[in-house]
Amino acid sequence: MAGDYETIVVTPQESGFGAGVAGLDLRRPLDPAVLAQVREAWTRHSVLYFPDQPLSLDELEQFTLQLGPFGVDPFIKPMPGRPNVLELRREPDEKATNFGAGWHSDWSFQAEPPAATLLHAKVVPPVGGDTLYADAYRAWDDLSEAMKTMLSPLRAVHSARQAYGPNGVFARETEARTLQIIVSEAAEATVSHPLIVTHPVSGRKAIFASPVYTVGIEGMTREEGMAILRFLFEHMTREDYVYRHRWAPQMLTLWDNCCTLHFADGGYDGHLRVMHRTTVAGERPR
Ligand code: SIN
Repeated sequence: MAGDYETIVVTPQESGFGAGVAGLDLRRPLDPAVLAQVREAWTRHSVLYFPDQPLSLDELEQFTLQLGPFGVDPFIKPMPGRPNVLELRREPDEKATNFGAGWHSDWSFQAEPPAATLLHAKVVPPVGGDTLYADAYRAWDDLSEAMKTMLSPLRAVHSARQAYGPNGVFARETEARTLQIIVSEAAEATVSHPLIVTHPVSGRKAIFASPVYTVGIEGMTREEGMAILRFLFEHMTREDYVYRHRWAPQMLTLWDNCCTLHFADGGYDGHLRVMHRTTVAGERPR
């Protein structure tokens, strides 16, 4: 599964989904040839993790910008003076559910969802706090031809309402949360994307839907759409397709929102967890 990389050392997971990258200092701008190797590894493995990268916020922003312009992060208050960085901080005594504890692809309710998300670990709890990633390429590849034919022409409806709308989970929560969520009517908006997308770089097909942000299928009744979506959500998040990422302090991950879902696992009550997150703008899914 490993490719030929002249400068970087890429160690893929056994499945090929997810890979560690060593041999780089991300505090400095990457040479274009090295950046091309990182992009190649990312295209091949969808989720990359870079251990031992003690990045300042400026350096995190600069590495993000080497991959493309910042994406737009709605509904969450960014770090003071850093409009493109979110601090995902959960205090040891916090009782609210950890942020991201539902399978999703970041901001898929946008007309042009972010191509990439970068997450940099500042404080990692001694137990729990893993991030799970699901491979939406393999989930597609393994479907029967009859199912692929049925799903291919469909468009899925995405919305932020279940999370950030006035009746969403954040509006209804009763426990205090450090992360400042902005509940808004704007979250009620919907956008439709192809249910099956073709990745703009790899050319591979992937299922583009998630339980947090996909709320129906265009032209179908709610019952019909949800029956198909429930099947897909269960299928996509089967253990076979999931890579469980264990963090270490100063580790950076980079994932592809077009062909993966992710889920922030809990299990660290009583411990601090702090992550810094940026996104890279993407294009309209096709
Ligand atoms: C997220 O959903 O972006 C958060 C992931 C994490 O904190 O592990």
